[in-house]
Amino acid sequence: MNNDKKTVKKPWGGRFAEDTDKLVERFTASIHFDKRLYRQDIAGSKAHATMLVKQGIISPEEGMAIVRGLDEIQHDIEAGKFVWQEALEDVHMNIEQALVERIGDAGKKLHTARSRNDQVVTDTRLYLRDETDRISDLIHGLQLALLSQAKRHPELIIPGYTHLQRAQPVLWPHHMLAYYEMFKRDKERLADCRRRINICPLGSAALAGTGLPIDREFTANELGFDDISANSMDAVADRDFAVEFLAALSIIMAHLSRLSEELILWSTVEFGFIELPDAFCTGSSIMPQKKNPDVPELIRGKTGRVYGCLMAMLTLIKALPMTYNRDLQEDKEALFDAIDTVSASLEMMTAIISRLEPKKEHIGKVLEKGFLTATDLADYLVKKELPFRSAHEVAGRIVARCIETGRDIKDLSLDEFKAFSPLIEEDVYDVLTVEGSLRSRCSIGGTAPETVAEAVRRAEIELNGFNKQ
Ligand code: ARG
Repeated sequence: MNNDKKTVKKPWGGRFAEDTDKLVERFTASIHFDKRLYRQDIAGSKAHATMLVKQGIISPEEGMAIVRGLDEIQHDIEAGKFVWQEALEDVHMNIEQALVERIGDAGKKLHTARSRNDQVVTDTRLYLRDETDRISDLIHGLQLALLSQAKRHPELIIPGYTHLQRAQPVLWPHHMLAYYEMFKRDKERLADCRRRINICPLGSAALAGTGLPIDREFTANELGFDDISANSMDAVADRDFAVEFLAALSIIMAHLSRLSEELILWSTVEFGFIELPDAFCTGSSIMPQKKNPDVPELIRGKTGRVYGCLMAMLTLIKALPMTYNRDLQEDKEALFDAIDTVSASLEMMTAIISRLEPKKEHIGKVLEKGFLTATDLADYLVKKELPFRSAHEVAGRIVARCIETGRDIKDLSLDEFKAFSPLIEEDVYDVLTVEGSLRSRCSIGGTAPETVAEAVRRAEIELNGFNKQ
């Protein structure tokens, strides 16, 4: 960046008698972060110039010079040869000024019938549209990893929890597909939000529209927008599409954080359900035995950061009078930071899930503890026509006896069972195994093996027929 002390003439300098204070230049500049929008800014300008030619507002020669000049600038930016100047505030004025320097007076016509107010929100919408698609693809990758993890261990039974207390046995693929569903909704949320992002504000000019004979539909079409904004004031002032986008990203992080928390818990000695790959963990400089789950911990930690971006955006817009206010420049860093954080977190989680190894033997050993089949015993009594509340009471008393005597439910003799309820017969033992328990949960969406196998098949079809819209 070129920040030398020489004074740069401002494109808006006409009515000013004094040069901008250097501190003000530094404070108001956004170039160090909004240069990230250069591709969208150039695409928007090219479409705008093409429209100006079509409408006879500038000549075809001027239009061609503008488009060629912008292409060269893009080339220089991508080759790392472009010098960004803080004194020119932002990506829009840096590029426009460079164009004027290259092509002369024709460059000065580019900003006809346009303002930075409609320009910046056009750039932001184009940028978020692309990012929405890219993040959707990353989620898709994570879903594929979850699905293949589900398919790799189709018969593995693990304890299912409520209140972090052992509840009922579930299949490993059922647990993986629970996250598959969450991320499926995340993709839907992004696709829905994209519909409201992909609206073209260009042509709203500063706030009130323009008197020049522009063709807004044409520009919108050139840029692949689905529609044009209906109200010029709303178009330059609105950032609710950015709030929605950050809300969608925040929910993705909430899901990633829950999954991270489970990976952290499962990799403890206390649970011992999984071994995280060494390449994804770090050690301790003092405790030689440690293998710390830093990656899921950081994903969990970064979740707060993305929520912070959402709060920043909501707070940013809450009391802004119509229409554009410079406050809105603060939207970009929150967006960029959230996008980077979510992207990196999704990539890391996909890599971990792909390499996750459940410790089947250990899980098998600890599965019997915790009376996971107590509900099955109650359900058994219901099938023998005992009302559920009474069945619950009987099963509860049987569990209490087992706790007292240090035994599992299925270790009781038939006589002992009969002392609790005469309805209990020899066939009770069939429902008291974790396998029997699983098989019985065949309601739609349940954990019975055939139900889960069907869910796996459905997920496969969904992922193969993946469509962003
Ligand atoms: N850098 C500004 C932003 O991000 C661009 C728009 C500036 N408009 C203005 N009238 N000062 O919002």
